[in-house]
Amino acid sequence: MGTCNRGFVQMGFAISMIIIAISGVSLVGADSDKEIVVKTVKGHKVCDQGWECKGFSKYCCNQTISDLFQTYQFENLFSKRNSPVAHAVGFWDYKSFITAAAIYQPLGFGTTGGKLMQMKEIAAFLGHVGSKTSCGDGVVTGGPLAWGLCFNKEMSPSQGYCDEYYKYEYPCAPGAQYYGRGAIPIYWNYNYGAVGEGIKEDLLNHPEYIEQNATLAFQAAMWRWMTPIKKGQPSAHEAFVGDWKPTKNDTLSKRVPGFGTTMNIMYGDIICGQGYIDPMNNLISHYQYYLDLMGVGREEAGPNEVLTCAEQVPFNPSPKSTS
Ligand SMILES: *[C@@H]1O[C@H](CO)[C@@H](O)[C@H](O)[C@H]1NC(C)=O
Ligand SMILES: *[C@@H]1O[C@H](CO)[C@@H](O)[C@H](O)[C@H]1NC(C)=O
Ligand SMILES: *[C@@H]1O[C@H](CO)[C@@H](O)[C@H](O)[C@H]1NC(C)=O
Repeated sequence: MGTCNRGFVQMGFAISMIIIAISGVSLVGADSDKEIVVKTVKGHKVCDQGWECKGFSKYCCNQTISDLFQTYQFENLFSKRNSPVAHAVGFWDYKSFITAAAIYQPLGFGTTGGKLMQMKEIAAFLGHVGSKTSCGDGVVTGGPLAWGLCFNKEMSPSQGYCDEYYKYEYPCAPGAQYYGRGAIPIYWNYNYGAVGEGIKEDLLNHPEYIEQNATLAFQAAMWRWMTPIKKGQPSAHEAFVGDWKPTKNDTLSKRVPGFGTTMNIMYGDIICGQGYIDPMNNLISHYQYYLDLMGVGREEAGPNEVLTCAEQVPFNPSPKSTS
């Protein structure tokens, strides 16, 4: 895993609900194999596209991720993950990505803002994933950016990552190890506890689920992407797609909608506000590489102030618990 072992701060929770009041229902044929059910709720159009985008949401009226991002593209982005020297051979696949994404697409994950924004969000999310699971440092074959999803867990954990400060809220289970696991690695009991509540799995007692099940690993990463760390702050998703209006404070702190602010939310002062440090550059490089491979082009990533967080003031300080 990457060198960053303090990715997540205390978790906040934001539950998005879609309220349905049925009026007219109509069927619109889209692809031959897909049916979009459309209805109007309080004057707004909402849709259901079956398993991949379910539950009548405005987001499900747009194309779904699998319309825009297919198996061959996933294979392209993560081309080295099953090479013999990789560390999670056979673990990650497209199906687990899409299965996990189906939970969050009705909430806007990869379904917000039209095709270009949708492609960019997929590239941005996967940019985080690729950078955090890469074993490409110093390799020659394929270049350093071709090695995303090489890991699914920290290889030689130096500790069990049990923080006693959270012993009432998120008590460590006897024998459980809370080392880094996942698509955007989770470390520490309090993070496993909070993510577990978010994805409704008992990760505090079973942190190993994340290294045993790629769907859960992706789901955990998507939950983190879609959920603010603290109340009143944007989620990475909201900051990326522009569903967030920066306050005056944000503007003074150089926090603007875009990829840079997603790094600020996910990693705070470990990555941001430190100038052009390697771990930040590595995240950006993965995002740009994926934009290119997906045919969007890295120029769509925007100017430096949007793309980086080199000069941003972090939203949250890193947790004190990691002595
Ligand atoms: C759906 O896509 C259109 C562009 O095709 C975009 O204008 C619209 O905002 C998208 N819907 C949502 C809910 O983001
Ligand atoms: C992984 O977890 C998902 C979600 O709980 C479950 O549906 C699936 O069966 C699991 N896969 C395996 C191989 O256990
Ligand atoms: C603005 O930022 C300052 C310093 O970071 C902080 O103390 C203050 O609470 C913030 N104000 C608001 C309204 O968020």
